[in-house]
Amino acid sequence: MIRVFADLERLSQAAAELIAGRAQLAIEQRGRFCMALSGGSTPRSTYQQLAQPLLRDRVPWSRVHLFWGDERCVAENDPRSNLGMARKALLDQVPLTPEQIHPMACANDPWTAAAAYQRLLEEFFSPGEIRFDLVLLGLGEDGHTASLLPNTPAPQENRRLVTAVQTSREDFARLTLTIPAINLARLVVFLVSGQRKAEILHQVLRGPQGQYPAQLVAPGKGEILWLVDSDAAGQ
Ligand code: 6PG
Repeated sequence: MIRVFADLERLSQAAAELIAGRAQLAIEQRGRFCMALSGGSTPRSTYQQLAQPLLRDRVPWSRVHLFWGDERCVAENDPRSNLGMARKALLDQVPLTPEQIHPMACANDPWTAAAAYQRLLEEFFSPGEIRFDLVLLGLGEDGHTASLLPNTPAPQENRRLVTAVQTSREDFARLTLTIPAINLARLVVFLVSGQRKAEILHQVLRGPQGQYPAQLVAPGKGEILWLVDSDAAGQ
């Protein structure tokens, strides 16, 4: 399902409303709401909208647990930090205890950190399977999503649920949920905005399959929703 919005602000309002509604539903049905946050810049305004009193007061925050779909291994106060962005845009504005916030900590060796996050997920979701109620994702211009970067082993990782990513193009490592972890989700929501994403969005949705990591996202027992603005939907 693809929904097109006039601009990023309207896209973000719809995304925030969707998150609040899904949180209420999950908490009614299963007693808690587990969401994996996306990084990058697109989701910032969604997080800010969710933190506005109207929506914020609809969410039973004491039953919410936040995780990350990926993280850059930089300090939290580094502008590239996904945790840092979410902290400013959302976490500092809503009543969550530290026990409800599960960042991908990767200050030391990224491979050790990836294994530690997988253990965190296994313990948190035990005895059930690691199934997020909602996984938020973005789309990179190269077709990556989360930190499943093309031309790295990460998109094809099909055993681990969390893996590390290191490329010569960046001076920092990344941690990311893998396709198996993402595809267990009840709902995956892609947020895509801006004219510079028009070509890749068209290729991902209408081009030959199997070309880009984002095309591997297909939640077997869940739904997938694309929330895009008209610039990104230009093609
Ligand atoms: C990351 C993000 C990444 C992001 C896309 C789009 O940590 O790099 O999770 O997958 O969603 O690169 O980024 P923008 O929203 O900044 O365009």
